[in-house]
Amino acid sequence: MPDLETTLIPPGLAERLRTARYVAVLTGAGISAESGIPTFRDPQSGLWANYRPEDLATPAAFRANPRLVWEWYAWRRAAVAGVVPNAGHRALVEIEARVPHFLLLTQNVDGLHQAAGSHAVVELHGNIRRVKCFDRGHAVATWAEAGDVPPLCPLCGSPLRPAVVWFGESLPADALARAADAIARCDLFLALGTSLRVEPAASLPADALARGATVLILNREVADRVAPPLYQINGLAGTVLPALLEAAWPEMAGSGSRS
Ligand code: OAD
Repeated sequence: MPDLETTLIPPGLAERLRTARYVAVLTGAGISAESGIPTFRDPQSGLWANYRPEDLATPAAFRANPRLVWEWYAWRRAAVAGVVPNAGHRALVEIEARVPHFLLLTQNVDGLHQAAGSHAVVELHGNIRRVKCFDRGHAVATWAEAGDVPPLCPLCGSPLRPAVVWFGESLPADALARAADAIARCDLFLALGTSLRVEPAASLPADALARGATVLILNREVADRVAPPLYQINGLAGTVLPALLEAAWPEMAGSGSRS
C-alpha cells in the first residue's frame, strides 16, 4: 500500500526539491488557516466575505474613518497574538535548513513564519504587529491603547496606523527587489496557500516559470495537475508540506526534528 507522502506528492516533485539550489517560496493566507487565522477570499470564512476591503484596507478608508480602521486591525492583531505556527510553517523552516539558497516571500502580516523559525523572510505586505504614523511613516515601537483612537505619533502627532500595505499603496521597494532577485535565481518556486489574485505577488509563479524554474502551486482551489515544470496540488499546507519534506528527505523521517 502506498504511504501517505507518495500518494500526496506527485512523481518527480520531491526530487526537484531535494536537488534544488535555490528555493523561493510565496505564501498567502492559506498557510496560516490551519493556525486559526481566517483567509481573505474563502467563501463564508474569508475576511472579504464579511467585510469590504475598500472600507478597511485603503488610505481613503483610514482618512474617512480612522477609528473604525484602527479598531478592525486591533481586533485582527489580538487574534494573531493568540495563535501559533502550524505544520506547514514548520515544514518551510526545515526546507530552509536543507537547501543551499532559500527565500520566503510572504503576503501574510501575521509574523508566523518568523515565529516558526524561518530566517530568510520578506514581508511583502508588512506586519500587523507593527505600527507607523499615517502622515510621515514614522515607525512607532509602543503605543497606548487608551486615550486617542487611533493613538497619535509621539514624533509628529499624526494618527497611527498598522504597518501593512493597503490597496492602492506600493509594496516596499526593497521587498520587491528581493522578490525579483529570487525569481531570477530560483530553480524551484513554491506558491503556497495563496489565491494569486493580488498583484504583484500574483504574477510571481508565471515569472518563475518563464525564467525556467519548476513551480508548485498548492492551495484548496486548484485542480491537481502534474505538467512539469508546473505542478498543482489541491490540499492543505499543513498536510502536504510535511509530506513533501519527508518525500524529499526520507532519511530524516523519524528523526524527531519536525515534531
Ligand atoms: P486569499 O484568501 O485570497 O487566498 C487564500 C488561499 O489559500 C486560497 O487559494 C485557498 O484555497 C487557500 N487555502 C485555504 N486554506 C488552506 C490550507 N489549509 N492549505 C493550503 N491552502 C489553503 O489570501 P491571499 O492570497 O493571501 O492583502 O490574499 C492576498 C492578499 O489579498 C492579502 O495579502 C491581502 C488580501 O486582500 C491586503 O490586505 C492588501
